[in-house]
Amino acid sequence: MFELIEKALISTCVEETLEKTREAFNSVECANFMAKNELRTILPIDKVSFPAKPICVHPLDLPRRRLGSEAGKRSFIHAIAHIEFNAIKLALDIAYRFKGLPEQFYIDWLYVANDECKHFEMLCRRLENYDCAYGDIPSHDGLWSMAVKTENDLLARLSLVPRYLEARGLDVTPGMLKKLTAQNDTASAAILEIILEDEVTHVEYGTKWLDYVCAENGLQRENVFFENIEHYLKGQILGPFNRPLRIRAGFTENELAELERLDKRSSR
Ligand SMILES: [Fe+2]
Ligand SMILES: [Fe+2]
Repeated sequence: MFELIEKALISTCVEETLEKTREAFNSVECANFMAKNELRTILPIDKVSFPAKPICVHPLDLPRRRLGSEAGKRSFIHAIAHIEFNAIKLALDIAYRFKGLPEQFYIDWLYVANDECKHFEMLCRRLENYDCAYGDIPSHDGLWSMAVKTENDLLARLSLVPRYLEARGLDVTPGMLKKLTAQNDTASAAILEIILEDEVTHVEYGTKWLDYVCAENGLQRENVFFENIEHYLKGQILGPFNRPLRIRAGFTENELAELERLDKRSSR
Protein backbone atom coordinates (compact mmCIF):
# COMPACT_ATOMS: atom_id res chain seq x y z
CA MET A 1 0.00 0.00 0.00
CA PHE A 2 2.78 2.46 0.86
CA GLU A 3 4.46 1.59 -2.44
CA LEU A 4 1.28 2.52 -4.29
CA ILE A 5 1.07 5.80 -2.37
CA GLU A 6 4.67 6.54 -3.28
CA LYS A 7 4.00 5.81 -6.96
CA ALA A 8 1.03 8.18 -6.90
CA LEU A 9 3.09 10.87 -5.20
CA ILE A 10 6.03 10.78 -7.58
CA SER A 11 3.90 10.42 -10.70
CA THR A 12 3.74 13.33 -13.14
CA CYS A 13 0.75 11.78 -14.90
CA VAL A 14 -2.77 12.71 -13.83
CA GLU A 15 -4.25 9.33 -14.80
CA GLU A 16 -1.56 7.36 -13.01
CA THR A 17 -1.92 9.48 -9.87
CA LEU A 18 -5.64 8.74 -9.77
CA GLU A 19 -5.17 5.05 -10.55
CA LYS A 20 -2.49 4.45 -7.92
CA THR A 21 -4.42 6.43 -5.31
CA ARG A 22 -7.50 4.30 -5.90
CA GLU A 23 -5.45 1.10 -5.82
CA ALA A 24 -3.92 2.17 -2.51
CA PHE A 25 -7.34 3.00 -1.10
CA ASN A 26 -8.78 -0.33 -2.24
CA SER A 27 -5.83 -2.29 -0.88
CA VAL A 28 -6.44 -1.01 2.65
CA GLU A 29 -9.08 -3.67 3.30
CA CYS A 30 -6.98 -6.65 2.42
CA ALA A 31 -3.37 -5.69 3.08
CA ASN A 32 -1.53 -5.93 6.34
CA PHE A 33 0.19 -2.70 5.43
CA MET A 34 1.32 -1.89 8.94
CA ALA A 35 3.77 -4.80 9.09
CA LYS A 36 6.57 -2.87 7.40
CA ASN A 37 5.46 0.63 8.28
CA GLU A 38 8.32 1.40 10.62
CA LEU A 39 10.96 -0.01 8.26
CA ARG A 40 10.03 1.70 5.02
CA THR A 41 12.19 4.42 3.50
CA ILE A 42 10.51 7.75 2.92
CA LEU A 43 11.52 9.88 -0.04
CA PRO A 44 12.14 13.56 0.69
CA ILE A 45 9.28 15.84 -0.22
CA ASP A 46 11.05 17.34 -3.24
CA LYS A 47 10.63 13.95 -4.94
CA VAL A 48 6.85 14.46 -4.99
CA SER A 49 6.00 15.46 -8.55
CA PHE A 50 3.24 17.20 -10.43
CA PRO A 51 2.15 17.13 -14.07
CA ALA A 52 3.94 19.56 -16.41
CA LYS A 53 0.56 21.20 -17.02
CA PRO A 54 -0.99 23.34 -15.63
CA ILE A 55 2.01 25.62 -15.64
CA CYS A 56 2.63 27.43 -12.39
CA VAL A 57 2.35 31.19 -12.24
CA HIS A 58 2.21 33.81 -9.53
CA PRO A 59 -1.36 34.11 -8.13
CA LEU A 60 -1.52 37.73 -9.36
CA ASP A 61 -0.88 36.59 -12.93
CA LEU A 62 -3.85 34.24 -12.95
CA PRO A 63 -6.79 35.02 -15.21
CA ARG A 64 -9.63 36.72 -13.38
CA ARG A 65 -12.57 34.54 -12.52
CA ARG A 66 -15.67 36.56 -13.24
CA LEU A 67 -18.42 34.01 -13.33
CA GLY A 68 -20.59 35.96 -15.77
CA SER A 69 -18.72 34.81 -18.87
CA GLU A 70 -18.08 31.32 -20.21
CA ALA A 71 -14.35 31.96 -19.90
CA GLY A 72 -14.85 32.98 -16.29
CA LYS A 73 -16.80 29.80 -15.49
CA ARG A 74 -14.19 27.69 -17.24
CA SER A 75 -11.32 29.19 -15.28
CA PHE A 76 -13.28 29.00 -12.03
CA ILE A 77 -13.98 25.25 -12.45
CA HIS A 78 -10.39 24.70 -13.54
CA ALA A 79 -9.08 26.48 -10.45
CA ILE A 80 -11.19 24.27 -8.18
CA ALA A 81 -10.05 21.17 -10.09
CA HIS A 82 -6.47 22.26 -9.48
CA ILE A 83 -7.15 22.59 -5.76
CA GLU A 84 -8.62 19.08 -5.73
CA PHE A 85 -5.65 17.64 -7.61
CA ASN A 86 -3.31 19.21 -5.06
CA ALA A 87 -5.57 17.88 -2.30
CA ILE A 88 -5.01 14.32 -3.60
CA LYS A 89 -1.25 14.74 -3.22
CA LEU A 90 -1.67 16.41 0.18
CA ALA A 91 -3.77 13.56 1.58
CA LEU A 92 -1.40 10.95 0.13
CA ASP A 93 1.60 12.76 1.54
CA ILE A 94 0.35 12.85 5.11
CA ALA A 95 -0.34 9.10 4.93
CA TYR A 96 3.08 8.48 3.38
CA ARG A 97 5.42 10.74 5.30
CA PHE A 98 4.59 10.12 8.95
CA LYS A 99 5.34 6.82 10.67
CA GLY A 100 4.38 5.45 14.05
CA LEU A 101 0.66 6.18 13.94
CA PRO A 102 -2.27 3.80 14.41
CA GLU A 103 -3.54 1.92 11.36
CA GLN A 104 -6.67 4.09 11.29
CA PHE A 105 -4.54 7.19 10.62
CA TYR A 106 -3.44 5.78 7.25
CA ILE A 107 -6.92 4.49 6.46
CA ASP A 108 -8.46 7.90 7.17
CA TRP A 109 -6.07 9.84 4.92
CA LEU A 110 -6.43 7.34 2.10
CA TYR A 111 -10.17 7.78 2.41
CA VAL A 112 -9.60 11.53 2.03
CA ALA A 113 -7.30 11.00 -0.97
CA ASN A 114 -9.97 8.86 -2.60
CA ASP A 115 -12.59 11.57 -1.95
CA GLU A 116 -10.29 14.14 -3.56
CA CYS A 117 -9.98 11.91 -6.65
CA LYS A 118 -13.76 11.83 -6.84
CA HIS A 119 -13.96 15.65 -6.54
CA PHE A 120 -11.27 16.12 -9.16
CA GLU A 121 -12.96 13.80 -11.65
CA MET A 122 -16.39 15.41 -11.20
CA LEU A 123 -14.84 18.81 -11.98
CA CYS A 124 -12.93 17.44 -14.98
CA ARG A 125 -16.16 16.07 -16.41
CA ARG A 126 -17.75 19.48 -15.88
CA LEU A 127 -14.79 21.15 -17.64
CA GLU A 128 -15.49 19.06 -20.73
CA ASN A 129 -18.66 21.14 -21.19
CA TYR A 130 -16.42 24.15 -21.62
CA ASP A 131 -14.09 22.35 -24.07
CA CYS A 132 -11.43 22.47 -21.46
CA ALA A 133 -9.23 19.83 -19.83
CA TYR A 134 -7.24 19.93 -16.62
CA GLY A 135 -3.90 21.56 -17.37
CA ASP A 136 -5.21 24.02 -19.98
CA ILE A 137 -5.19 27.04 -17.68
CA PRO A 138 -2.20 28.29 -15.62
CA SER A 139 -2.50 27.79 -11.87
CA HIS A 140 -0.54 28.40 -8.68
CA ASP A 141 1.01 26.08 -6.12
CA GLY A 142 -0.15 27.79 -2.95
CA LEU A 143 -1.42 24.61 -1.34
CA TRP A 144 1.53 22.36 -1.92
CA SER A 145 4.00 24.88 -0.51
CA MET A 146 2.40 24.34 2.91
CA ALA A 147 3.15 20.61 2.67
CA VAL A 148 6.78 21.40 1.90
CA LYS A 149 7.09 23.76 4.86
CA THR A 150 5.66 21.12 7.21
CA GLU A 151 7.60 18.16 5.80
CA ASN A 152 9.05 17.13 9.15
CA ASP A 153 6.37 18.21 11.58
CA LEU A 154 3.11 16.31 11.86
CA LEU A 155 1.62 18.76 14.38
CA ALA A 156 2.25 21.61 11.94
CA ARG A 157 0.99 19.59 8.98
CA LEU A 158 -2.30 18.76 10.71
CA SER A 159 -2.74 22.33 11.92
CA LEU A 160 -1.97 23.95 8.58
CA VAL A 161 -3.27 21.57 5.92
CA PRO A 162 -6.58 20.04 7.05
CA ARG A 163 -7.31 22.56 9.81
CA TYR A 164 -6.32 25.69 7.97
CA LEU A 165 -6.29 25.22 4.18
CA GLU A 166 -9.14 22.72 3.94
CA ALA A 167 -11.10 24.48 6.68
CA ARG A 168 -10.84 27.64 4.60
CA GLY A 169 -12.79 25.76 1.92
CA LEU A 170 -15.66 25.42 4.40
CA ASP A 171 -15.68 29.21 4.79
CA VAL A 172 -15.58 30.21 1.12
CA THR A 173 -17.55 27.49 -0.66
CA PRO A 174 -21.05 28.66 0.41
CA GLY A 175 -20.34 32.07 -1.21
CA MET A 176 -19.23 30.34 -4.41
CA LEU A 177 -22.38 28.23 -4.36
CA LYS A 178 -24.49 31.36 -4.17
CA LYS A 179 -22.71 32.90 -7.16
CA LEU A 180 -23.07 29.74 -9.24
CA THR A 181 -26.74 29.50 -8.39
CA ALA A 182 -27.21 33.16 -9.34
CA GLN A 183 -25.65 32.27 -12.71
CA ASN A 184 -28.07 29.33 -13.05
CA ASP A 185 -25.11 26.98 -13.13
CA THR A 186 -26.87 24.26 -11.17
CA ALA A 187 -24.59 21.49 -12.47
CA SER A 188 -21.46 23.13 -11.04
CA ALA A 189 -23.31 24.07 -7.85
CA ALA A 190 -24.35 20.43 -7.34
CA ILE A 191 -20.70 19.35 -7.53
CA LEU A 192 -19.62 22.00 -5.05
CA GLU A 193 -22.34 20.91 -2.65
CA ILE A 194 -20.99 17.36 -2.63
CA ILE A 195 -17.45 18.66 -2.15
CA LEU A 196 -18.46 20.94 0.72
CA GLU A 197 -20.09 18.09 2.63
CA ASP A 198 -17.10 15.78 2.11
CA GLU A 199 -14.67 18.49 3.22
CA VAL A 200 -16.30 18.67 6.65
CA THR A 201 -15.07 15.10 7.20
CA HIS A 202 -11.57 15.95 5.97
CA VAL A 203 -11.28 18.85 8.41
CA GLU A 204 -12.76 16.65 11.15
CA TYR A 205 -10.01 14.08 10.53
CA GLY A 206 -7.54 16.94 10.97
CA THR A 207 -9.06 17.69 14.38
CA LYS A 208 -9.19 14.02 15.33
CA TRP A 209 -5.54 13.34 14.52
CA LEU A 210 -4.23 16.60 15.88
CA ASP A 211 -6.01 15.66 19.13
CA TYR A 212 -4.44 12.23 19.06
CA VAL A 213 -0.87 13.42 18.45
CA CYS A 214 -1.24 16.17 21.07
CA ALA A 215 -2.54 13.67 23.65
CA GLU A 216 0.36 11.31 22.89
CA ASN A 217 2.81 14.12 23.55
CA GLY A 218 1.05 15.65 26.54
CA LEU A 219 0.21 18.80 24.59
CA GLN A 220 -2.92 20.91 24.46
CA ARG A 221 -4.48 21.01 21.00
CA GLU A 222 -5.62 24.63 20.99
CA ASN A 223 -2.15 25.83 21.99
CA VAL A 224 -0.44 23.71 19.35
CA PHE A 225 -2.86 24.85 16.66
CA PHE A 226 -2.39 28.55 17.34
CA GLU A 227 1.39 28.24 17.78
CA ASN A 228 1.54 26.76 14.30
CA ILE A 229 -0.85 29.33 12.86
CA GLU A 230 1.35 32.05 14.29
CA HIS A 231 4.59 30.47 13.16
CA TYR A 232 3.61 29.57 9.59
CA LEU A 233 1.06 32.25 8.79
CA LYS A 234 2.47 35.04 10.93
CA GLY A 235 -1.08 35.68 12.11
CA GLN A 236 -2.31 36.34 8.55
CA ILE A 237 -5.67 34.74 9.21
CA LEU A 238 -8.56 35.43 6.90
CA GLY A 239 -12.20 35.25 7.93
CA PRO A 240 -15.11 35.28 8.03
CA PHE A 241 -15.44 31.73 9.29
CA ASN A 242 -18.21 29.23 8.71
CA ARG A 243 -19.06 28.59 12.35
CA PRO A 244 -21.64 25.77 11.90
CA LEU A 245 -19.44 23.71 9.58
CA ARG A 246 -16.27 24.37 11.53
CA ILE A 247 -18.00 23.25 14.72
CA ARG A 248 -19.10 20.06 12.97
CA ALA A 249 -15.44 19.60 11.99
CA GLY A 250 -14.33 19.81 15.62
CA PHE A 251 -13.42 23.47 16.10
CA THR A 252 -14.23 24.66 19.62
CA GLU A 253 -15.89 27.96 20.50
CA ASN A 254 -12.53 29.03 21.94
CA GLU A 255 -10.74 28.31 18.70
CA LEU A 256 -13.35 30.18 16.67
CA ALA A 257 -13.21 33.17 18.99
CA GLU A 258 -9.42 33.25 18.75
CA LEU A 259 -9.52 32.93 14.93
CA GLU A 260 -11.95 35.83 14.80
CA ARG A 261 -9.71 37.90 17.04
CA LEU A 262 -6.69 37.17 14.80
CA ASP A 263 -8.71 38.02 11.69
CA LYS A 264 -9.67 41.40 13.16
CA ARG A 265 -6.07 42.06 14.12
CA SER A 266 -4.80 41.46 10.57
CA SER A 267 -7.48 43.62 8.96
CA ARG A 268 -6.65 46.64 11.11
FE1 LIG B 1 -11.85 18.00 -2.08
FE1 LIG C 1 -10.40 17.76 1.22
